[in-house]
Amino acid sequence: MTFHLSETAYGTDTPEAKQTMYADLRSQLTGLVHGETDWIANTANFSSLVFNTMPGLNWAGFYFLKTQDELVLGPFQGKPACIRIKRGRGVCGTTVEKGEAIVVADVHEFPGHIACDVNSRSELVVPVFAKGEIIGVFDLDSPLPNRFDAVDAEGIGSLVKILEQTLES
Ligand code: SME
Repeated sequence: MTFHLSETAYGTDTPEAKQTMYADLRSQLTGLVHGETDWIANTANFSSLVFNTMPGLNWAGFYFLKTQDELVLGPFQGKPACIRIKRGRGVCGTTVEKGEAIVVADVHEFPGHIACDVNSRSELVVPVFAKGEIIGVFDLDSPLPNRFDAVDAEGIGSLVKILEQTLES
């Protein structure tokens, strides 16, 4: 797949363009979750907002820790995906172990990467916290190599923070 900026709503090739996109996403998300505390509704809308706004994605969604050693698939957008991921396995399980975002420029170079979709070439996984404890991750996949960088990790992290506030309210 070739990525043409002209086909997208945002140019994502500069940090400034990305920051503009994330500022817009924060504003839209704040409106979407306003007054709503239902976690399934908010995470479903979060996935849809990100997937339908950000160019160059083939999957965006949540995995939650149902037990301390296993993630289970949550609300997402994209093709059906792997349901259970052990803590410490793949990019998602490694993010749980580290407790911080992981940017994978080339999934073929990440030891233990779990390929739910063979078309995925790069990935960003951001942890989700509640009351200081990690409760899951938000995972973005792209068919483009090197789709995500530190600006994306920070931008998606800022959106996840807005979501986390709905859980604690
Ligand atoms: N690639 C992930 C698995 C989840 S899917 O990409 C939706 C991983 O390695 O943890």
